[in-house]
Amino acid sequence: MTPPPESHRDPPYVLAVTGASAQPLAERSLQLLLRNGRQVHLILSRGAHEVWTAETGVSIPVDPEQQQRFWRERLAVDTGALTCHRWNNQAASIASGSVRTRGMVIVPCSMGTVGRIAAGVATDLVERCADVHLKEGRPLVIAPREMPWNLIHLRNLTTLAEAGARIAPPIPAWYTQPKSLDDMVDFLVVRLFDGLNEDLAPLQRWGDSDAR
Ligand SMILES: Cc1cc2nc3c(=O)[nH]c(=O)nc-3n(C[C@H](O)[C@H](O)[C@H](O)COP(=O)(O)O)c2cc1C
Repeated sequence: MTPPPESHRDPPYVLAVTGASAQPLAERSLQLLLRNGRQVHLILSRGAHEVWTAETGVSIPVDPEQQQRFWRERLAVDTGALTCHRWNNQAASIASGSVRTRGMVIVPCSMGTVGRIAAGVATDLVERCADVHLKEGRPLVIAPREMPWNLIHLRNLTTLAEAGARIAPPIPAWYTQPKSLDDMVDFLVVRLFDGLNEDLAPLQRWGDSDAR
């Protein structure tokens, strides 16, 4: 039997990665989504390719098919469905509001991308998709990464919150008594996807012990 077209299946997530520090948050998000059998459309901005290389010493292929193979091998996961897009492919399916999605997460999100989305300027596919999610009233979760924030950053983030985005900066918590950086990464990505009602991975939450 022919499988139903993508538009008739469970809608996909759009996962966008931009040129801010904290690329491991994007990598772990992608791994957990695929492990959970989710469909993911992945976009790395041009800046993300540069920061990824700076943070890991590894270059991510730009060609979408090569990039899909790269992630499958690196993340050691063969479940879920992954579609990679070039940052400048404004003709991609997800650039249209007619394509349904569960929502979009930008992690990590640079101040450049924050500013361009807030100004309604879509120079690449990440910004176009964010614009589409806002105009369609679909969930858009933004994990901005910069420190400290200047007044322009704060104003742009406020504009995005007013337009309906959920601003979820990757700020760790210590009440979970993390034992490693991996524990902190997991806490941050699980909390990020809480905003989309996606239970990404088991997490010890405050008050869990009350039930015992
Ligand atoms: C190693 C490295 C780390 C960076 N970290 C950040 C950051 O945490 N936040 C940020 O806003 N920009 C950061 N930048 C600058 C952005 O990558 C740069 O402004 C880029 O043009 C953003 O493009 P994009 O928003 O299209 O990804 C970093 C750049 C480099 C090379």
